[in-house]
Amino acid sequence: MQIIDTSQFKLGMIDCVRGLLIRPKGILAADESFPTIAKRFASVGLPNSEEARRRYREMLLATGGLDEFISGVIMFDETARQANSDGTPFIHLLEQNGIIPGIKVDAGLLPIGSSDVENVTSGFDGLPGRLREYVQMGLRFAKWRSTFRIGPGLPSDFVVDANAIGLAQYASFCQNAGLVPIVEPEVLLDGDHSLADSKRVIIHVLTEVVRRLEQANVRLDLTIVKTSMATRGSTNKVENQESVGAATARVLSETLPPAIGGVVFLSGGMSELEATRNFNEFSQSGSYPWPVSFSFGRALQNSALKRWATDPSRFEEARTELLHRARMNSLARVGDWSPEEDSAGEGRTRKF
Ligand code: G3H
Repeated sequence: MQIIDTSQFKLGMIDCVRGLLIRPKGILAADESFPTIAKRFASVGLPNSEEARRRYREMLLATGGLDEFISGVIMFDETARQANSDGTPFIHLLEQNGIIPGIKVDAGLLPIGSSDVENVTSGFDGLPGRLREYVQMGLRFAKWRSTFRIGPGLPSDFVVDANAIGLAQYASFCQNAGLVPIVEPEVLLDGDHSLADSKRVIIHVLTEVVRRLEQANVRLDLTIVKTSMATRGSTNKVENQESVGAATARVLSETLPPAIGGVVFLSGGMSELEATRNFNEFSQSGSYPWPVSFSFGRALQNSALKRWATDPSRFEEARTELLHRARMNSLARVGDWSPEEDSAGEGRTRKF
C-alpha cells in the first residue's frame, strides 16, 4: 500500500487558509454552474456559449489590481480548464497575480421527495479522484454548497442531517487530498420568514454541520465556513427587529467554535448595497475568534455583468464596476464602508 506523506499537505492548507482570510481582502465566487450562468446571462440579454463564458470570466479574472481586494477566486470546472485570450490558463493567471485559485466541486442540487422544495447536494461520484486532479491542476481550495429552505416544517430533519453529513464527508475528502474545504450550508432567503426564524434555522444548521465535521475528524482550523447572514425572508415586508449585522454577529458567536479557520459570507440574493451594508454592520458589531470575510457571487458581479452586457468587446468599464464592489466590501470587512463613498460607484452604474 502506498503511504502518502500528508505533512506537506497540512502546511499548504495552513498557508491557504491564511492567504484566503488575509485582511482586508475577500473571495470572489465566480463558480456559476452551466444552468446558473445561463440564467445570469439571460437576465442581461447576453447569448450563452462556451466562448462567451470564457470571455466573461476573462473580464473578471484578468482585472488589473483585483488582488488588492480579492484573495481567492472560486471557479467552475469549465473555467478552471480555460485560458485567457493570450493563452495563459486562468489558474496560472490568478497565481501570477497573487490570487489563490479554487473550485466548486459539488454537482448541484437534487430534489428530495415529490416536490422540489428541499434538496440534497450531489457530486460524490468519483470525488476523491477529481480532487486529486484539481490539486495537480494547481487548485488550492474547494467549495461545496447545500441549501436549506425556511418554512412551515422546514428545513426537515432529514435534509439537515443528510446535507450536514454530506458537507462533512466532502470536507474530509478535501483535506485528505490537500485542498482547503469551504463548507457552505446556505440558508435560503426565499420565503416570508422572520429574522427570528432565520436566526433559529442558521443556528440549528451550523450546529449540525459542526457536529458532523467533528465526527468526521475534519480539521476545523483548516476549514472555512461559508454562511448566510441572518435576515427576514425576501417576501416578508415586515422590517427586521434588529440589524442584520448585529443579529448575524450573535448567531455566529453562539454557534461556531473558535477553532474554525475562518468564516465568509455569501450574498444569497441581497442587492450589492444590502450585502455590503449588512457586512459592514457585522464588522462593527463585535470582535470574533475567527477571521470573517466575504465570498460574494452576485453582490460582487451584478454591476460588472450589466455593464459588460452593454458591450462585451469592452472589458474596462465592467472591471471598474467589479473593482469598486471589491473595494467597498474590503472596506466593510474592517467596518469602514460608508454609503457616501459607495454612491460614487452607484452613480456610474445608474448611467446605463
Ligand atoms: O454558492 C453561492 C456562491 O458561492 C455565492 O453566491 O453571493 O450570489 O449567493 P451569492
